[in-house]
Amino acid sequence: MVNKKKYFYNLYKNIKNKKAVVGVVGVGYVGIQLLLQFKKKNIKTIGFDRDKIKLDKLIKGISPFSYISDKKIRSLKNQSFYTEKYENISLCDVIIICLPTPIKKNTKPDLSAIENTLKKIKKFIKKGQLIILESTTYPGTTRDIIGNNLKKFKLGEDLFLSYSPERENPGSAVPFNKVNKITSGYSKNCSILSELLYKKIVNSVEVAGSLEEAEMTKLLENIYRSVNIGLVNELKMICLAMKIDINKIIKLASTKPFGFSAFYPGPGVGGHCIPIDPYYLYWRAKKFGQEAKFIKIAGEINIKTTQWTIKNIAKIISKNKTTKRKKVLILGLAYKKNIEDIRESAGIKILQSLSKMKFVVDFSDPHVDRNDSLFKKLVGRSKNIDINKNIKNYDCVVLVTDHDAFNYKMIIKFSKILIDTRNRIYRKDNFFRL
Ligand SMILES: NC(=O)c1ccc[n+]([C@@H]2O[C@H](COP(=O)([O-])OP(=O)(O)OC[C@H]3O[C@@H](n4cnc5c(N)ncnc54)[C@H](O)[C@@H]3O)[C@@H](O)[C@H]2O)c1
Repeated sequence: MVNKKKYFYNLYKNIKNKKAVVGVVGVGYVGIQLLLQFKKKNIKTIGFDRDKIKLDKLIKGISPFSYISDKKIRSLKNQSFYTEKYENISLCDVIIICLPTPIKKNTKPDLSAIENTLKKIKKFIKKGQLIILESTTYPGTTRDIIGNNLKKFKLGEDLFLSYSPERENPGSAVPFNKVNKITSGYSKNCSILSELLYKKIVNSVEVAGSLEEAEMTKLLENIYRSVNIGLVNELKMICLAMKIDINKIIKLASTKPFGFSAFYPGPGVGGHCIPIDPYYLYWRAKKFGQEAKFIKIAGEINIKTTQWTIKNIAKIISKNKTTKRKKVLILGLAYKKNIEDIRESAGIKILQSLSKMKFVVDFSDPHVDRNDSLFKKLVGRSKNIDINKNIKNYDCVVLVTDHDAFNYKMIIKFSKILIDTRNRIYRKDNFFRL
């Protein structure tokens, strides 16, 4: 009996005594937070990534993330090391997978990062380890994609498998340990081990009844946001046509102490979660003969919101007819404030569409300071300009992402035409709220 449970007890003891080494595969927005949190508790970590430039920065103590200081990254030095070499997987007691889960052009799930990495790490996985998937995905992934690939082990006995969705919110003021963590397991022992692990870094851990329940919970959270953001943006468009300010309506409705949660309109959703994750369930539901209509409609409205914003910006700028090419300045390219993430960002789409309409478009974003070829391809000829010196040169200034670092007094004073898509600023003349 003792022998049969030896792997469980050894790992339990190591996690409890903070002797377990935690490997994090994919040191992105999610992975880096885990490394920082385990470091705080003096738990040794290894960060795995295939991006050599990122690894090099981390090794040198330079933060690849604008909202995480170099000092914090340097603080990891004694506790962590980074590598692209998967043989180091065998040094880990726990392996947490935080790889990207995007969608393909046809909106079907793209699990290639997880599948390809699994192929590479499989030979280094050994008995007595706990593998946790944190990437957002459809119910059934952990069991089907990871579990079925590890059949040479007795899952739940000599190898442990969990799914724990990540609730990381980059740039958020809420401390990581104050956000409840959900976890789950292939078996009871798997749940016990992952609960024990996460209790080291967060105050409260909820254990779901199965891997699929935990996977579905994350999707519910993101679909809830997608649908409600779609709803409020649709109402914004209706309100504007009726000359009603949606923001005032939200403020009034928020006085109700129950049954109403405020969502705020904007130029359209972005990031690696809201525009993508709902399609994981849409695709999976179809396999069960179900059509997820809310997901489909919300996705369409979220795309329409950005197109509507672009059309209205163009209309406002073009009102004042002159033969010269109008110059437009976009404030904020990141998909949300105070971070540098431009994945699926409305700002990029607005910039690209207005450029195609033959406006001269530049941008200003203190967080998005990139020099790589992918970024250059996305922004084309547009330049990241210093607004303190140049704002007066633009015919129209559009606030797309309301970073706190912007000097709003100066923006309000010196912009010729000012458009606000975030309800952040106001002025009397030559001002439009979209
Ligand atoms: N960003 C968020 O706020 C957030 C929040 C909750 C959940 N999630 C989910 O967490 C997962 C990771 O998201 P993220 O935002 O951290 O992604 P990310 O792109 O920031 O990080 C992923 C990292 O994995 C690396 N990578 C990609 N393919 C690899 C491979 N084959 N081998 C090794 N490394 C590889 C990349 O270089 C990158 O550093 C996704 O499923 C996402 O939906 C993200």
